[in-house]
Amino acid sequence: MGRGIQANSTMREAITPRLTEHDEQAVEYTDSVKVCPAPDPHHQEKEPKMSQRNYRAAIIGTGGIAHAHAQALQASGRASLVAVADVDAARAAEFAAKYGVPRSHTSAEELLREERPDFVHLCTPPHLHAPLAIACLEAGVTALVEKPPTLSLAEFDALADAERRSTAHVATVLQHRFGAGAIRLRRLADAGELGRPLLATCLTQWYRDEEYFAVPWRGTWESEGGGPTMGHGIHQFDLLFSVLGPWREVTAVAARQSRSVDTEDVSMALVTFENGAVATVVNSVLSPRQTSQLRFDYERATVEVDHLYGYTDDDWTVTPAPGHDDVTVLWGRDGSAGDGGRSGHGHWLKAVLDALDKGEAPPVTVEDARRTMEFVAALYASAFTGERVRTGQITADSPFAQRMDGTGTPWERVRNP
Ligand SMILES: NC(=O)c1ccc[n+]([C@@H]2O[C@H](COP(=O)([O-])OP(=O)(O)OC[C@H]3O[C@@H](n4cnc5c(N)ncnc54)[C@H](O)[C@@H]3O)[C@@H](O)[C@H]2O)c1
Repeated sequence: MGRGIQANSTMREAITPRLTEHDEQAVEYTDSVKVCPAPDPHHQEKEPKMSQRNYRAAIIGTGGIAHAHAQALQASGRASLVAVADVDAARAAEFAAKYGVPRSHTSAEELLREERPDFVHLCTPPHLHAPLAIACLEAGVTALVEKPPTLSLAEFDALADAERRSTAHVATVLQHRFGAGAIRLRRLADAGELGRPLLATCLTQWYRDEEYFAVPWRGTWESEGGGPTMGHGIHQFDLLFSVLGPWREVTAVAARQSRSVDTEDVSMALVTFENGAVATVVNSVLSPRQTSQLRFDYERATVEVDHLYGYTDDDWTVTPAPGHDDVTVLWGRDGSAGDGGRSGHGHWLKAVLDALDKGEAPPVTVEDARRTMEFVAALYASAFTGERVRTGQITADSPFAQRMDGTGTPWERVRNP
């Protein structure tokens, strides 16, 4: 067996990790065959050293996920966190002290007025994302918005309009596109090395208890915008779309099975892509054995990733079709895709800074994020109408463009009756 190929147990540990999205240490499951890329001796990092700047960064909303942003900024060495803001003054001050941030504010407006940052990380609850991002754009400041970028497609299009009017950009934080395994897969697929994509499965089966939903902004259409489709599975199907490209139509179901929320707590979709591939997408917060799994069956190989809140190179498995062992070799040779470490905010931020250095729109761009948000709207529209929904079908006058629950769910509301 060559360098970087490890064989280990086919048994997966039957454990249920009590991790949240914020945990820094993910449990990494092992699988049957792992193919780790060897370093490419001919590869040179194409860092645009000459145009690199030290950016002035700020964070608005200093709760749970803001820590991942501050840590990514510190680790990058390419941006200084000059200020933070939170309506909870004590939380903002404590956060600023922890990360050595010179100033903390109690309002976004004050921060934008007094700091003139190059970009702002928006880490507030979802219902504030669009208004704050538009305020940033109007101030000429790039907005890096946590997922979901908006509550609805209509709101997303208003945000896209604001970007067109601004000198700055808006980008969405969907970090799992940027790990080495995803980059490697897109390169091999785009180069035609895997043959045609035939089918895929995309599973986000997570576990969130009632206590998790006690946070007031969670579990409602008005402040979270949706359930596990909008808030959890979005990471995995955004990665799916980055690999398979535009989706064409979706048929879905959504249900509230167990949690005391207004939104769904599980959804399932059947998706057809423009390239002819078909996929199943499952989004759940009810699954005691948690996993985030994507599996791509191409003509020449199955490529899979099995992780929880971030994958390393060890979480990817490649199984060549008979007669196509060369795919395993190609995957193993491509060590140029990245450091192979756990996909997260650090990889996403590197892609953002690389784009800004080149004067380009940072990822995930409006065009890519809209495809993902339109899918969310289409999934809900299909689930609540019983119809198959195609791309472009949710026009501005559709109730599902205005709100993700359209004209309302088939179940009674318990949070915002
Ligand atoms: N990308 C990921 O992996 C990931 C993981 C977790 C959460 N998120 C997203 O990040 C966002 C925040 O989630 P969280 O779990 O950190 O939430 P949180 O409730 O822990 O933190 C939100 C913070 O925003 C502050 N805030 C509220 N209104 C504000 C305002 N008007 N101005 C300034 N600050 C304000 C709150 O006081 C709080 O400190 C959500 O959209 C969530 O979906 C993304």
